[in-house]
Amino acid sequence: MIKHILVSAAILALLAAGAFAVYAYHPAMEEVATGTQQAFDDDAVERGRVIAAAGYCASCHTAVGGEPWAGNYPMETDFGTVYSTNITPDPESGIGAWSAQAFKRAMQDGVDREGRHLFPAFPYNHFTLMSDQDVDDVYAYIMSEVAPARSTQKDNELPFPLDQRILQAGWKLLFVDSGRYEKDPQQSDEWNRGAYLVEGVTHCGACHTPRNALGAEIDSEHFDGATIDRWTAPALNGSNAAAIRWTARDFSEYLKHGGTRAHGVAAGPMGPVVHAGLRELPDSDLQAIGTYLAAQNDDIRTGEEPAQIIAASLAKGQPKKSYRQDQGERLYVTACASCHYNSEQIELGRPDLGVNSATRLDQPDNLIHVILDGVGNQEGLPGIVMPGFRSALDDQEVAAIAAYLRRTRTDRTPWPDLGDTVSAIRAH
Ligand code: HEC
Ligand code: HEC
Ligand code: HEC
Repeated sequence: MIKHILVSAAILALLAAGAFAVYAYHPAMEEVATGTQQAFDDDAVERGRVIAAAGYCASCHTAVGGEPWAGNYPMETDFGTVYSTNITPDPESGIGAWSAQAFKRAMQDGVDREGRHLFPAFPYNHFTLMSDQDVDDVYAYIMSEVAPARSTQKDNELPFPLDQRILQAGWKLLFVDSGRYEKDPQQSDEWNRGAYLVEGVTHCGACHTPRNALGAEIDSEHFDGATIDRWTAPALNGSNAAAIRWTARDFSEYLKHGGTRAHGVAAGPMGPVVHAGLRELPDSDLQAIGTYLAAQNDDIRTGEEPAQIIAASLAKGQPKKSYRQDQGERLYVTACASCHYNSEQIELGRPDLGVNSATRLDQPDNLIHVILDGVGNQEGLPGIVMPGFRSALDDQEVAAIAAYLRRTRTDRTPWPDLGDTVSAIRAH
């Protein structure tokens, strides 16, 4: 009897393994003969340029100081470092020998030309939603406009067995919903266009949605906010921490210019999303993104008008005459208030620190990053910078300013262990 059970269990296991092997197997695809110039339509190439910008391909596929698109950009994941690959048209070290079909399989199924599973540090779980036409256009752009560059691929730093690509097939089975975007007929065309862009090529959820222990975005916590490179990517839904509710217009303005008056500016990892990416999209697409995102948080905080909230924040923000008593307040007045001086009219370039998300989030990380390193010209609003205070202030002083702003400008609970957090972020 026991023998029978064991034999049947073994057969079942073999069948399952066989089925998995069939599922996991993908054939290699033919190389495109080198030297064959493929011809592409100019319009397709131009459309591809815009879509590739909106997918930040170049940001992730270019190492600091490296050739554009030639890979080796290190992506630090919870499991180890994965290096992006060379996707220039170089036939040996890049994707010059990849057919349009092989490229499409990589984008939509996360499988490379030789049939190996790609790691989800490459956000193919979002790109799978892209239409065939958009993927073909990106291919046309890369093959005709990106300069071929040779490179030597760095080895990923992943522990065994996580480095085994075959395991990725299991990960896909669990977490990836392959397939093109399907319109929701209940919603407007604009909403659908926004959803297509946000969930697909621009993959906002890759940073703004928390991940589970296996590194997959958690569907039930879509846009609840997450940590990336020790920054907080704030929630983009009803739990967003900003004092003033984001409207469709705020979202599209922020994504076009890198900041809005009633919110903050796009610093840290959000900088390239705007400046190397979304800014290329036509206004109609940015509006569609705004419409889709605003619909995610429509039901909250409809009471007060932005003008009232800003006025109340400004009133709270006036340093007291006795400011010399409190170290945080004294440092704020001398280091920050000359620019963040709470005038009646908040200026676009100088966010009011009471309404800015950085002072209101559950983690102080974004505020600390900005105090230490400022906001560079490639981040936030173009042509406007904030200097950093890394060498002028020590950890305890940065912590004192952060604690002061939190206490006097927001109704949120104090941040614990601020001093330690500042030193960890300084070292990061
Ligand atoms: C968030 C970072 C990131 C973004 C954004 C990104 N990629 Fe990648 N991509 C990667 C990583 C990392 C790999 C390597 C994965 C691996 O080795 O399994 C990769 C692999 C690829 C591959 C497979 C190449 C090969 O040699 O196997 C292709 C094709 C590709 N990316 C195209 C694109 C395109 C086109 C875009 C923009 C629409 C893009 N990627 C955006 C990180 C990114
Ligand atoms: C590479 C990671 C990354 C990607 C991709 C990304 N974001 Fe962000 N986002 C961030 C970080 C980090 C911040 C915080 C920046 C700051 O406060 O200066 C942020 C801030 C924001 C904010 C401001 C929120 C607030 O409360 O102040 C909005 C709005 C936003 N992102 C929208 C988007 C949208 C829409 C997309 C997709 C089109 C997107 N983000 C893609 C990392 C990312
Ligand atoms: C010289 C003027 C100046 C000083 C001094 C200054 N700031 Fe700023 N700050 C700015 C400007 C300008 C921006 C917007 C930058 C941009 O858009 O590129 C900004 C942005 C910010 C933001 C928004 C960041 C975000 O991600 O939304 C915060 C928070 C902030 N400053 C806090 C401070 C604090 C705290 C101090 C004092 C330690 C300080 N600033 C000192 C000019 C200044």
